[in-house]
Amino acid sequence: MELDKLLKSRRSVRKYSPQPVERDKIMLCLEASRLAPSACNAQPWHFVIIDDETLKEKFSRGAFSGIYRGTMFAARAPVLVAVISDPQWLPRAGGAIRKTDFHLIDIGIAVEHFVLKATELGLGTCWIGWFDETKAKEVLDITGSRKVEILLAMGYPADDFSAGPQKRKAVAEFSTFNTGK
Ligand SMILES: Cc1cc2nc3c(=O)[nH]c(=O)nc-3n(C[C@H](O)[C@H](O)[C@H](O)COP(=O)(O)O)c2cc1C
Repeated sequence: MELDKLLKSRRSVRKYSPQPVERDKIMLCLEASRLAPSACNAQPWHFVIIDDETLKEKFSRGAFSGIYRGTMFAARAPVLVAVISDPQWLPRAGGAIRKTDFHLIDIGIAVEHFVLKATELGLGTCWIGWFDETKAKEVLDITGSRKVEILLAMGYPADDFSAGPQKRKAVAEFSTFNTGK
């Protein structure tokens, strides 16, 4: 798909068809993430694909409970993706000097590659930052300091899914030439 069209057609999908997502399509999305750039080429990410219905239910019961229950829509997506960070020492040292978490920037790029490939394949996704990380880690056997930074819901959009207007700032509101003022 032509890039402009792809960027315009990607929207957060919060209503999914029950149609399963083919594993080969998931692999193509992972391949798109694999090609993402990262600070020092550290590739500081691990993607856990949750497409087993029983595990997904257990995961959703924990991760989307209490103050996070508003995210329960994601439990009805055929696939959830948990993205775990794996920061490497060199960008971490550079990041400490710069006071910038490079690994979070890297993960953002890798996940958006995944999302855009999914869009090209006709799949809908929704980034999810609002979830109970402690429970997510428990269900996925993630121990120690490894963090689940972000989740994605993924599936074919429901027939009656429609996105509202894509509200965005005008380019002039977020850009300038030759000055930061
Ligand atoms: C880092 C990040 C976290 C997000 N977390 C959530 C979330 O927890 N729940 C949700 O429904 N949408 C979440 N979103 C989706 C945004 O609400 C959505 O991208 C934004 O409103 C723009 O709409 P669009 O994606 O349809 O263009 C998140 C998006 C990003 C990039």
